[in-house]
Amino acid sequence: MCGIVGFTGSTAASPVLIEGLRRLEYRGYDSAGVAVQRNGQLRLVHRMGKVAGLAEAVEQEQLEGTCGIGHTRWATHGRPSTANAHPHTSCDGRIAVVHNGIIENYVELKEELEADGHRFTSQTDTEVAAHLIEAAYAQTPDLVEAVRAATQRMAGAYGLAVISADEPGAIVVTRKDSPIVIGMGPDGARVASDVIALIDATRDVTVMADGELAKLSPTEITYYNAAGQVVDPKITHIDWDIDVAEKGGYPDFMLKEIHEQPRVIRDTLAGRLVDGTLAIDELDLSVEELNLIDRVYVIACGTSYHAGLIAKNLIEGWARIPTEVEVASEFRYRNPIITPTTLVVAVSQSGETADTLAAIRDARCKGAKVFGITNVIGSPVARESDGVIYTKANKEIAVASTKSFLGQVVSLTLLGLLLAQVKGKMRTNQIRLLFRELADTAAQVESILSDVSAIDEAALACKDASSALFIGRGMGAAISYEGALKLKEISYLHAEAYAAGEMKHGPIALLCDGFPVIAIATQSPVYDKVISNLQESKARGAMIVAVATEGDEEIRKHADHVIYIPKVRDCFSAITASVPLQLLARSIAVLRGCNVDQPRNLAKSVTVE
Ligand code: F6R
Repeated sequence: MCGIVGFTGSTAASPVLIEGLRRLEYRGYDSAGVAVQRNGQLRLVHRMGKVAGLAEAVEQEQLEGTCGIGHTRWATHGRPSTANAHPHTSCDGRIAVVHNGIIENYVELKEELEADGHRFTSQTDTEVAAHLIEAAYAQTPDLVEAVRAATQRMAGAYGLAVISADEPGAIVVTRKDSPIVIGMGPDGARVASDVIALIDATRDVTVMADGELAKLSPTEITYYNAAGQVVDPKITHIDWDIDVAEKGGYPDFMLKEIHEQPRVIRDTLAGRLVDGTLAIDELDLSVEELNLIDRVYVIACGTSYHAGLIAKNLIEGWARIPTEVEVASEFRYRNPIITPTTLVVAVSQSGETADTLAAIRDARCKGAKVFGITNVIGSPVARESDGVIYTKANKEIAVASTKSFLGQVVSLTLLGLLLAQVKGKMRTNQIRLLFRELADTAAQVESILSDVSAIDEAALACKDASSALFIGRGMGAAISYEGALKLKEISYLHAEAYAAGEMKHGPIALLCDGFPVIAIATQSPVYDKVISNLQESKARGAMIVAVATEGDEEIRKHADHVIYIPKVRDCFSAITASVPLQLLARSIAVLRGCNVDQPRNLAKSVTVE
């Protein structure tokens, strides 16, 4: 969703801001803008559409100055328009603000500010922040104090970066429930809502905590707590490379990230088996505490929710603990049964999904232990959970999750094995064997990636369809849900997933000549049942694409296209079978001329409810 950048230093600000905004493009946005301070004035440029358009406009306007802020906006309050694009300014144009999040009490604040004579020029919630700061600055002409006073009036979520024409070289930032990272580079200080926008300048960053403020100047950064007292920052070292933000020879980030998955599997497993025993120390729970767990909820959204569906099969199958998987937006508004021995596993790639965060808070209030599984170090999910497992996917740029999903599945598989270990449901040598086979999936995914001809052929056969059905049973059903989501989000081809046994209870009515049915038909205890479902589909004219196990010749009798994958134990089939579905979705999207990395209407982090 929205992105924030800011720079104050010894060189021109606009190129730094534009480059930072480019790096944030992957998050999804509809308009962009910058404000730069020079000679006691602020100059602003806003544009609808892409950052490239903003860059041209900034060049034409010759925005000079060495201190500025920038923003990419994903509309929430007020339609996408130039007037609603950030930065927003105070009445006198001397204070400019960029904001991520939602100011929930903005209607009330706006009415109050209008009654005091403030004039608004946009429909956004953000603009109230500019006017509140203006009013506070009129009382106490100190930008840190003014921002602090203004945010005390604001309810909701905010990451804010503010500049004033009256405070040359200064950027004041603060946050609540919306990430802000700060770092000092060789040419000045930078702020961004995502570390990717400043990692080329420094790898040592401060991830701000809720309520903290900071004042950036070209040579120093001062941090304050919510009471306005100066505090020491906590520095985090980022160990991944900027080349994650480059396509590395691939035509798009999605394909590059799909190809990174063998590495993700290896990195996620590295160091987890110590002397033949599974170890996940970050969970911060003793064996005794883990042993008491008698109910698990996996809460997540979208693709992460699908990783949860896979985990349910594993945790129940191995550890024999009842496990529910719930979309976070429902969980937070229900009254789930939570006791001190309930474990809530919150899965979130970005670590900042608003619904997942709210569900974590709710679960902790009700007494559950919460484990976060996230890809982003220091993210709100990581900070607000009792323990955290970091998936080792590294930054994911394509909006559609692929390598993060696989990292989640592998991490949840480890959690399932760990729970089985502490509950004494599996012998040590069994766990070691499964761990080895889990590690082998890295090479198996490599082998899938080495020949995609059958996938491309199936993609050609599906590309002109208007709808598709994904089916499977057991693990295959969970995989189908993710396959259908991948296809619809990047190709705009309507796709649904069904547990194959449910076909005859409704969706079979959709089938007609040539209708694509994509089936997970790998070797599993329910293989024969899936074959029956394929026969039912074939009898109604469906065009069958089957993901099947190498060596299975029988499947050719039932399917028009077969995508073979290496033989793995059923419990690991989600890892291998998901990969061809990711590639299939991408190939169909490319054939349909879609932008696979930035699908319409979608954002990489969904920080609003
Ligand atoms: C789809 C996708 C989304 C996310 C969902 C949750 O490819 O990426 O469905 O999975 O928005 O996001 P996180 O995992 O960041 O909480």
